[in-house]
Amino acid sequence: MCGITGYVGLKNASPILIEGLHKLEYRGYDSAGLALLKDGKISVCKRTGRVANLEAAVAGDNAKSTIGISHTRWATHGGVSDVNAHPHVSSDGLFAMVHNGIIENFRGIKTFLEERGYTFKSQTDSEALVNLIAYHFKNRTSDSDENRFLEAVRKALRHVEGTYGIAVLCPLFPGTIVAARKGSPLIIGIGKNERMVSSDVLGFAGRAQSVIYLDDNQVASISADECDIVSVSNVPVDFEVKDVDWALENDDLGGFKHYMQKEIFEQPSALENAIRGRISDDESTAKLDGLNMTPSELRQVDRIMFCACGTALHACKTAEYLIEKYARIPVEVEYASEFRYRNSPIDKNTLFFVLSQSGETLDTLEAMREARRKGYKTLAITNAVGSTISRESDGGLYQYAGKEIGVASTKAFTSQVAICLMMALKIARMRDMSFSEGRAIVEALKELPRSVAEALKQAPLIEKIAKKYASYEKFLFLGRLDEYPVALEGALKLKEISYIYAEGYPAAEMKHGTIALVCKECPSFLFANSDEIMSKVVSSAQEIKARGGSIIVATHDPKAFEGLADDIIPLPKVHDAVRPIVSVVPAQLFAYYVAVERGCDVDKPRNLAKAVTVE
Ligand code: F6R
Repeated sequence: MCGITGYVGLKNASPILIEGLHKLEYRGYDSAGLALLKDGKISVCKRTGRVANLEAAVAGDNAKSTIGISHTRWATHGGVSDVNAHPHVSSDGLFAMVHNGIIENFRGIKTFLEERGYTFKSQTDSEALVNLIAYHFKNRTSDSDENRFLEAVRKALRHVEGTYGIAVLCPLFPGTIVAARKGSPLIIGIGKNERMVSSDVLGFAGRAQSVIYLDDNQVASISADECDIVSVSNVPVDFEVKDVDWALENDDLGGFKHYMQKEIFEQPSALENAIRGRISDDESTAKLDGLNMTPSELRQVDRIMFCACGTALHACKTAEYLIEKYARIPVEVEYASEFRYRNSPIDKNTLFFVLSQSGETLDTLEAMREARRKGYKTLAITNAVGSTISRESDGGLYQYAGKEIGVASTKAFTSQVAICLMMALKIARMRDMSFSEGRAIVEALKELPRSVAEALKQAPLIEKIAKKYASYEKFLFLGRLDEYPVALEGALKLKEISYIYAEGYPAAEMKHGTIALVCKECPSFLFANSDEIMSKVVSSAQEIKARGGSIIVATHDPKAFEGLADDIIPLPKVHDAVRPIVSVVPAQLFAYYVAVERGCDVDKPRNLAKAVTVE
């Protein structure tokens, strides 16, 4: 989704801004642009397509500027064009602005400004805001305030409905960037005699030694050596400067062709990081201090509600099976985007959980805020350290999976499920689970990185199978119990990176309608790793076979499918509790190799964004 970088310091801003935009490319975008201050004027360059196009366009420009802002745009209001790309400049030429988010009342603002002589070039909502800033600057009541620039931005923002992360330049203040946020992340990076802004800490990877996370409704005035922050209603803000651990933000491809491939293969170490220090051998339980809950508070929990989006939602659905099975607590899972507006009834002793890799997904953040408003304790599992969700939740657990750059989420899913399993274990051990049952899960967790590494050894076989099926245009993914959410996740992975229509279904439910899709042109990918119901999954396979559909099966019991499945992916036999974490691996690899075979842009699939910071 849209990305922002800004720079003010002693160095040439343009290459630093371009470098920052390259780092943000993984988020998904369709055009890029930058604005610099040169000779007392704003100089803008914008290009549709890749950042490389913008880079080529500014390459010949040797005039140095030490301040600038830049942007990658993911179109919301107005098509993909140079004119709709950011930065936008106010019609009086005094302000340039980059914006992430959506100004919901932009039409009203635009009409108000048009009536006062302001003109517009683009179809974007953002152009209304930069002109509103110009309007407030022009109509200021006093000239004495040194912070006239910040004042104009602040006053304009008071009239904005919607979400924003913005960075603004003004040639009358050649050493200052004004930045603000509401609902869309913005971070200030601090270097030696230089400051940066970005919507993602990776935007200034390696350059900033420490960072300031802006909170909602805060406006910052940033110069090379200083930073002042006030609230939109002009109350000074005490802010915290935090060190950054760049080791966690490693974006080196390390010999892999794509980030998605690298991240699939990083799962054993991501799982080790998620589990490390969180299990107790002596007590056969999990130690989850980040939850900030006393044992008696945890014992009072009657229900858990999970909210998330996309892959994280599938992790929640997997957690539902695990927690209900082991901890015997009812779990409810809801799309964050639905929860926000549905006003779902929540029981008194409900623990409200959100899962979010990025920690910035707006629907998830707002669902969490809604639950907090209603007085519920909200906990979060996030991967991005310092993200908005992690900062605003009452407690939570970091995944420590390392930066996930591939748009299709993989290692984040498995590490979220592993953390949810530890939660199930902890709650279960406080209730009915015996020491020895707990011990078996602890052992399975300790073994999990090796089990996943074992499943990854099937990559060459899966690549071969993927090549065989890459030309098909529809697929079914079928699983039962905790492998049903795995089927949902397998279908999502295939859809998002190879643009093949795929449906995830509970295997037995298929015969109530979806079986009508089964034919020679629609293969089925089955997950069959539960001995309890193995014969039932075999029956589903037989129903598919009888109707001419091809079958790929990922199973620890290849014999059960001999003569029935067209392709068998053998998996290690693992404890039931960790099964979904191992079962999902072949589905991730299958989607990856199919997309590669079809020549798709695996890490930047069309229309998708890594962190979805708009509604
Ligand atoms: C799918 C995918 C998305 C995200 C979803 C939530 O591969 O990446 O479906 O899972 O947008 O993102 P986070 O976890 O950052 O809240």
